[in-house]
Amino acid sequence: MGHGKLKKFAENETFRCLLQPDASAILAKEPGSKELKLNDHPIKGHWGAEMFGNSNPIVLELGCGKGDYTIALALRNPQINYIGVDIKGARLWKGAKYATENALPNVAFLRTRIEFIDAFFGPGEVSEIWLTFSDPQLRGSENARLSSPLFLARYRNFLRPDGIIHLKTDSRYLYEYTQAVCRANHLPVLFQSTDVYHDTSCPEVVTQVQTFYEKMFLEMGLPITYMAFTIGHEGPYAYPGDAFDHEKWLEAEGPRRSFSHQPTKRG
Ligand SMILES: C[S@@+](CC[C@H](N)C(=O)[O-])C[C@H]1O[C@@H](n2cnc3c(N)ncnc32)[C@H](O)[C@@H]1O
Repeated sequence: MGHGKLKKFAENETFRCLLQPDASAILAKEPGSKELKLNDHPIKGHWGAEMFGNSNPIVLELGCGKGDYTIALALRNPQINYIGVDIKGARLWKGAKYATENALPNVAFLRTRIEFIDAFFGPGEVSEIWLTFSDPQLRGSENARLSSPLFLARYRNFLRPDGIIHLKTDSRYLYEYTQAVCRANHLPVLFQSTDVYHDTSCPEVVTQVQTFYEKMFLEMGLPITYMAFTIGHEGPYAYPGDAFDHEKWLEAEGPRRSFSHQPTKRG
């Protein structure tokens, strides 16, 4: 591991706004069982009191990378608390350092796999979720997509019933997949655009903040899509199955198909 990364990891330990739980704090074997069980982290249900010292609404950015949306939204909306979540410590360092140096009271970061997210948030604790340039998992499992029925079921455990999910992505595949999930479950789509910079009705918060990855995709000439939807739903979420044309939208990814980024490497 490079010296720069080690330095960032060491500095990460000093940031009060950055929670980096060891996996063993939430994953444990039940007595007499070989299976790992997800246990609640002590901060679950207590972010307001323990991290922010208030009861303001909480908004998450999942797969936040360097935390561009987390920071930009926090600066715009001081009465809302923002938490960026990612597994990569060297990326989180950027956002956590900015929040620390600028004493931003409404910013926190959580280093964890998003698969474990409901160990950290209690029922109704979160008002909105931003999914910013999430990996579309073109060849991976459908369940690894952050807008899959499996993930929506996790989010439902802690998102307010009227809570909104924002998906901003260069990936037409992920956008169309998410639309198909919404259709399969009759989830209301509040806003949708397949090219936000050529859509005058698009909310300013979508066009005025550009993330690290977004800038790269814009340089590649890719249109940026955005949709906002709610996930109130009784019972299990349905999978879109054949109603989502995987081959068609895979083909539509164009040059993006050769651009792969997986969350498996640490850093
Ligand atoms: C393409 S990057 C986008 C980063 C940032 N949102 C941006 O737009 O610049 C995707 C991010 O999601 C994170 N990520 C992907 N899958 C994850 C998972 N299962 N758990 C935690 N982080 C994940 C990666 O570490 C990476 O930082």
